[in-house]
Parts: sequence; structure tokens; C-alpha cells
Amino acid sequence: MDESMTANMFTPQALVAMGQAYPNEAVRLTHTMLDHPLLGLDALEALASSLPAACVEYNPGALPIGIAPEDIPVSPLGIAETVRTIDRNGSWMVIKRIEQHPAYGRLLHALLDELKDIVQPRTGAMERCEGFVFVTSPGSVTPFHFDPEHNILLQIRGSKTMTVFPADDEELIDPTVHEAFHLGGHHRNLPWQDEFGARGQPVEIHPGEAIYVPVKAPHWVQNGPEVSISLSVTWRSEWSVAEADARAFNHVLRQIGIAPRRPAAYPARNLAKSLAYRAVRRVKGPVAPT
Ligand SMILES: [Fe+2]
Repeated sequence: MDESMTANMFTPQALVAMGQAYPNEAVRLTHTMLDHPLLGLDALEALASSLPAACVEYNPGALPIGIAPEDIPVSPLGIAETVRTIDRNGSWMVIKRIEQHPAYGRLLHALLDELKDIVQPRTGAMERCEGFVFVTSPGSVTPFHFDPEHNILLQIRGSKTMTVFPADDEELIDPTVHEAFHLGGHHRNLPWQDEFGARGQPVEIHPGEAIYVPVKAPHWVQNGPEVSISLSVTWRSEWSVAEADARAFNHVLRQIGIAPRRPAAYPARNLAKSLAYRAVRRVKGPVAPT
């Protein structure tokens, strides 16, 4: 890849906005990644075909905002056919862990390097940096869910509206759901109630725009009227990993009849609970969700 393709991919304004928002606020950003040769449909079809089958997930797109994981219908199409007919097959497809491909790995790390000076002083080292590409049919819906990573979704083609909710609203997400999620016992899709709608902030993004989504900020996505291609760059941080450990430790406390306090909000680091959970795990092995 030519060097000029990986310089200043976030605009100076994006770095200022990220500096004001990180890590807890969702914010719209701008980027310069339009027409990137690695992000056209042909290149993405080749990428999807080159990765292990488990790294490509495709779903029918005509879903309600809230859906139980077991109710998601299975797509009958293969990878190449899904990509080639994405304008009319009503699907959304995720290519996961794109950094396994060297050129995409370089792209991911070049993007994240531009953010290091903002991220590391606040939430510690960036860990488990992973990239995902979403290829989506017109009008598709990605149901209400949350993710364990810091995430920036960069819009490359088409548009989408992401409605983002506060990560710390326990009326939206019960603490026990957080705990089960970190122990592997809860699917990322979350129970939806129509009265949640008003608490979300809809952010529409077009090519050249992006959105930063805080760790575990619930969201759902409505695709615009054209085919959409989005690149998601994600990372964990020392802070987010400690918060996840603290949630898992709270589960242990609940099992022995103690009602735990929620993990402390940023900038607290939850180090005591994190260390306690790591000690439990060393002694007892992985803790199972109940
Ligand atoms: Fe997500």
C-alpha cells in the first residue's frame, strides 16, 4: 500500500472532537478514507473469501430493532453471492478480524496510531486492536446491542443512522446483563422496549463521516437507502479490561449473596476488583455465568 494512503486518515477536526469526547461520549468524526482501494466491493469480496469462514457472518437485514438471538433467520447465500447482490438481497454482512490480512492490518494500525496520543494517557495501552467491515443492503437494520470495545465506525459508502444510548443507564441494561456478557453468557443483542427510544441519540453518517461509540454504549443501526460499506476499528484498553473484570467479580459476589456496587465510573480504574477477579480465576478457573 502506498504510504500516502495511510497518512492523516482522521481530519484535524476529528482529533479535536475525539479529544473532547473520549472515552465516554459518542461523537461524530470526519475522515479522509473515501475511495480507498481496500474498501471497494471487489476488494472486500476477495478479503472475505481469504479469511476463515468463521470470520464472515451474514444475516438477513429485515429485522426488528429487538430480536432474540435464536430468532435470527439464517441467510441462504454464500459470501461471493451476498457481496455481488448486496444491492438487492436484503442482507448485512460482517467481515471480522480483518487485521489477519496484512494490508488490512497495516490500515487498522495506521488509523489507530493517529489516536494514540488521545487514548493512551486516558485509558492506558490499546489492546486487542481489531477491525471489522460491514457490507449492508439498503434499509437493513442491525438490532439493539452493545459491544465490549471502544469502536469507531467509519462510513465509506452509503449512509446509516446509528442511535446510541448512554453506557451507564441501568434502566436500559441491568447490571446482571453486563456481568453475564463478560462471562460469555449473554448474546450481544439486548432486550428492547419501545419506551427506550427517546433516550437514544440518532447520529446519521455519510461517506467521510464516522462515529465514536463508547465501550458498551447500547446502539442500533438503520441503514440508508443505498448499499452501505462501513469500516469499524476497535480496541480494548487497560481501563475497559479492568471494568470488564470488575463486572465479572460482581457476578462472583452476587453468587455468594452480596449485592455488589457497580464498577466505578471513568476515570476510576477498578483495579481492586479487577485484581480480585483475576485471583479468583487463577484459583477457580473460568467463572461460569448463572
Ligand atoms: Fe455494534
